[in-house]
Amino acid sequence: MSEWNDEAVLVTGGASFIGSHLVEDLVAAGADVHVADDLSSGELANLEPVRDNITVHQGNLKRLAFAEEVTDGIDTVFHLAADHGGRGYISNYPANCATNMALDNIVYEAAAENGVERICFASSACAYPTDIQQERQPLREDMVDFDERGGAYADEVYGWAKLMGERSLQAYEEQYDIDASIVRIFTAYGPRENETHAIIALIAKAYAEQSPYRIWGDGEQTRNFTYVKDITRALRLAAETVTDGTPVNAGISRYITINEVAQTVFDHLGWEPAEIDHLTDKPIGVRHRAADTTRAEELLGWEPKYTLEDGIDQTVEWYLNNRDKQYVTENLETLLHER
Ligand SMILES: NC(=O)c1ccc[n+]([C@@H]2O[C@H](COP(=O)([O-])OP(=O)(O)OC[C@H]3O[C@@H](n4cnc5c(N)ncnc54)[C@H](O)[C@@H]3O)[C@@H](O)[C@H]2O)c1
Repeated sequence: MSEWNDEAVLVTGGASFIGSHLVEDLVAAGADVHVADDLSSGELANLEPVRDNITVHQGNLKRLAFAEEVTDGIDTVFHLAADHGGRGYISNYPANCATNMALDNIVYEAAAENGVERICFASSACAYPTDIQQERQPLREDMVDFDERGGAYADEVYGWAKLMGERSLQAYEEQYDIDASIVRIFTAYGPRENETHAIIALIAKAYAEQSPYRIWGDGEQTRNFTYVKDITRALRLAAETVTDGTPVNAGISRYITINEVAQTVFDHLGWEPAEIDHLTDKPIGVRHRAADTTRAEELLGWEPKYTLEDGIDQTVEWYLNNRDKQYVTENLETLLHER
């Protein structure tokens, strides 16, 4: 029997892309799963496969009364709710991202009041210093150091907020009887992600046969695209094994260029653009990003199970089965830019 059997679990932001996959995993493991989400970017449709097995609470977790209500009787909180989107969103809506600092602390405060036993926080690779990401240098958890002067330098307001979310959770762990775990999620992709994120945007543009096909930047920037099911497994393992708020990376160590992803997508769709236009005025974030996975292997026994080819295969299949080609073609620009 799994340790999640009959465990009362709250997934904040559970209607999101990553959240909905985590909810599925926890239901399969036997947990009594509750979701709290304001549906600002999450969708109930994401929870359709498990809708009858879970309890959904719709509301804004920046309201303390709602946060108190949904953490009542809960053993474990996975805190994924956040004001967040792709790179364009993060760059254009810094104040929205700043509100995550309030959101995180309200959720922790309510959980502490209600005697929640453990909290697992969905942090981000954006918590890492940006200046070291111009070269291919795998990011190690200890490259962020709260105790050293100048030890932190996060990626935009969104990254600083995630960093503060980490530090606040550690403070709750220090002051209260709460087990804390922190997972720094790297560029996730997979079914149910929206078009504001790189891989789904590349699939959408190819599906709509965009011509010339547009790639943000020169396409030689890299990310360690990590399949969503590998990410949710890391979140679950972190909650099971880490209690003292030590942050752990969840992301593969391979550097994958955007051009390589685009080519893999073309291969899966059996379509090639006649011309590719590289838009060098678009925000691309840091130049190179991949994770050092040593700590995830040692503490969680985590290794990725999906290759890029397997993950793209699953994602393209999901996209084609769930999106109408004419709709995507006619609404491409809106889909790429709206959260
Ligand atoms: N997608 C990635 O590659 C990635 C990378 C690093 C970290 N993360 C983190 O993982 C988590 C999930 O991200 P995602 O990409 O799956 O989707 P997302 O960013 O859309 O998920 C956020 C969820 O929180 C909900 N939400 C937002 N504000 C809320 C509020 N005030 N009250 C209640 N619910 C609220 C949204 O409706 C949504 O369901 C987020 O915390 C995100 O920061 C994601």
